[in-house]
Amino acid sequence: MKESVIVLFGATGDLATKKVFPALYKLHEKEELTKCRKIIAIGRKNKTSEEFVKDLKEKVVNYTEIEDEVYKAFSERIKYVEFDFNDKNKYRDLTSIISKYEGEKILYMATSPTYFKMITENLAKAKFFKYENVKLAIEKPFGNSYKSAKDINKTLKKYIKEKNIYRLDHYLGKSMLQNILALRFTNVVFENVWNKDYIESVLIDIPEEAGIEERGRYYDKAGAIRDMVQSHVLQIVALLTMERSKNINKSKMKILKSLKKMKKKEIRENMITGQYESYRSEKDVLDESIVETYVEMKINIKNKKWKNVPFYIRTGKKMDKKKFNISINFKESKGIRQFKEEELMPNKLIIEIYPKEGIKFNMNVKKPGVLNELDQADMEYCESCKYLGKSPEAYENIILNIINGDKTMFTSFEELKHSWKYIDRIIKYRNKDVGIYIDNSNGPIWKKS
Ligand code: BG6
Repeated sequence: MKESVIVLFGATGDLATKKVFPALYKLHEKEELTKCRKIIAIGRKNKTSEEFVKDLKEKVVNYTEIEDEVYKAFSERIKYVEFDFNDKNKYRDLTSIISKYEGEKILYMATSPTYFKMITENLAKAKFFKYENVKLAIEKPFGNSYKSAKDINKTLKKYIKEKNIYRLDHYLGKSMLQNILALRFTNVVFENVWNKDYIESVLIDIPEEAGIEERGRYYDKAGAIRDMVQSHVLQIVALLTMERSKNINKSKMKILKSLKKMKKKEIRENMITGQYESYRSEKDVLDESIVETYVEMKINIKNKKWKNVPFYIRTGKKMDKKKFNISINFKESKGIRQFKEEELMPNKLIIEIYPKEGIKFNMNVKKPGVLNELDQADMEYCESCKYLGKSPEAYENIILNIINGDKTMFTSFEELKHSWKYIDRIIKYRNKDVGIYIDNSNGPIWKKS
């Protein structure tokens, strides 16, 4: 078998430390990293490979369990290369290091999007793309506006074939989000009521406990709308509402294209933003920053099936707890004379993603006895209990799919185009006053209207 190699740009960064290396370690431990032998870790810090793997271990241990012996074998796969993204000679050296590996060359960009274009151009000048079997995995955010996304895409497409570009959104690798399509399309009980006639509203709630940590330089230019809504949240909305199709990207794109464009007034009425109290004292954040670390808003889809169904979304940093739930709120049932209306609750389907992974369905049942009294009961599926420790992390799924060449859980440029267009407009017209909220609180008031 020809050995492939992963070339990871941004290897000393936050994302690589918290998500990419823990996933690579797990895949190594489970012996699933068979097709790929070596990891070339590229970072700007001056260190040897030995120092890099030693420092990495101290950090990665906070995100996944590590066994010394396994880590030792894992670290033998890693070669650290110190790299200044402006230094043309480094790209030439990289091209020659890579020549040893006959298999696929997986370029993995886990840097800030401001470097995507520059790295690609420099690699091209150093003749990196002379190798035919180059795949590119590129992290989100893909740019910070439609214009910059288009620009990055144009550069990438000059050198790499579309079939070899993997635009990442790690939420698409989360097991319970992948479950959405199974839930909708393989259960007639849901498939037939999955539309505006039966669904009253949808709630997507993603509060996070952590602040921005070491990511001030990136976050203070992005904010919650670009960081979470443009990518993860809109992808969830698309998964929840797309039509059944073999071409998932196209089907999601149609939804993203039909997100209802709001007028300036509507944007202001349907959105609240906030900033946690200690945000401005975080490292690399401007003293007067008005960047939002919290956003809640109402999204609508302008098509026949979803007309007037509100999607309430909420996400924020430094909130009281980390949680991730999606609630599908069904309409009330009508005309059931033998039961009291006030005892009747509309059905609710809850997809739980964090801390527990599972699905809950809330329904009406009759209390035992001669009186026709109603009660509510939950039907519950707990994936994290059933597959204890076996359910892979999102990044494990993502990396394996890149290696195996399965593109279903990546985003197409057309999807990004429409989500950026929607977000650009919101950012342009939003109210620039962010409300300050207390650290580790529930954020500003949760409004649903
Ligand atoms: C990233 C965002 O894409 O997702 C981060 O840039 C956020 O700001 C993270 O914290 C959340 O990921 P997860 O998997 O912990 O929900």
